[in-house]
Amino acid sequence: MSLLEVQGLAVHYGGIRAVKGIDLQVEEGEVVCLIGANGAGKTTTLRALAGLLPAAAGSIRYAGSAVTDLPVHARARIGISLVPEGRGVFPRLTVAENLDMGAYSRRDRAGISADLEHVYGLFPRLYERRAQTGGTLSGGEQQMLSLGRALMSRPRLLLLDEPSMGLAPLAVQKIFETIRLIADQGMTLLLVEQNARLALESSRRGYVLEGGCIVHQDDAAALLASPKVRAAYLGA
Ligand SMILES: Nc1ncnc2c1ncn2[C@@H]1O[C@H](COP(=O)(O)OP(=O)(O)O)[C@@H](O)[C@H]1O
Ligand SMILES: [Mg+2]
Repeated sequence: MSLLEVQGLAVHYGGIRAVKGIDLQVEEGEVVCLIGANGAGKTTTLRALAGLLPAAAGSIRYAGSAVTDLPVHARARIGISLVPEGRGVFPRLTVAENLDMGAYSRRDRAGISADLEHVYGLFPRLYERRAQTGGTLSGGEQQMLSLGRALMSRPRLLLLDEPSMGLAPLAVQKIFETIRLIADQGMTLLLVEQNARLALESSRRGYVLEGGCIVHQDDAAALLASPKVRAAYLGA
């Protein structure tokens, strides 16, 4: 049984059919990416998985139960955590307060401080800046903070929306190093990226979304080698 099993998922904005009945699976401990051009439906898919948008059709099963109709906070409680596009850092809260927000639904103090230590270990930069407000951080640091905040909820499935967006090349490299580290520690990740090469190089399998439909799926290495995928998404 997969950790995440999506069947026939459709998501609409009024009359706009943004996601048109997609199937996808993610196994526990696996890193899977969803790549596609701007407007393909990647963010819409992740928001529907997190419970921020309703499914117009289809089903979402997680850890063996249907979660299709669960509200966002109920999905968060069972370990589904979204790191949104554009990062969503609270600009007036300090780094430490932003991280606390990630643990708001938890009561296990010892676990929370262990996780905080883990996050500061992954991102020493955040520890150095723990008393600074989120708004004063660079784009790369805000992306770290957003990822760190998600980790503070102790997720079982991390949904990452365009972690590389708007970042300088060095910051992109850093954030992907950390993503690979988290993956190596056993986290299950569904990664959405326009930067298809980077995403595929960090994943075991990938799905290609075009106009709200999945048009290819394969092992990441096979997608990286596919002439069609190379021509359309890898600039080669
Ligand atoms: N709030 C919205 N209202 C109406 N249409 C939307 C909204 N958000 C996204 N869309 C449309 O849905 C489609 C998929 O968008 P999105 O999921 O953001 O794509 P991606 O993340 O792959 O760039 C696009 O055609 C986009 O214009
Ligand atoms: Mg998007």
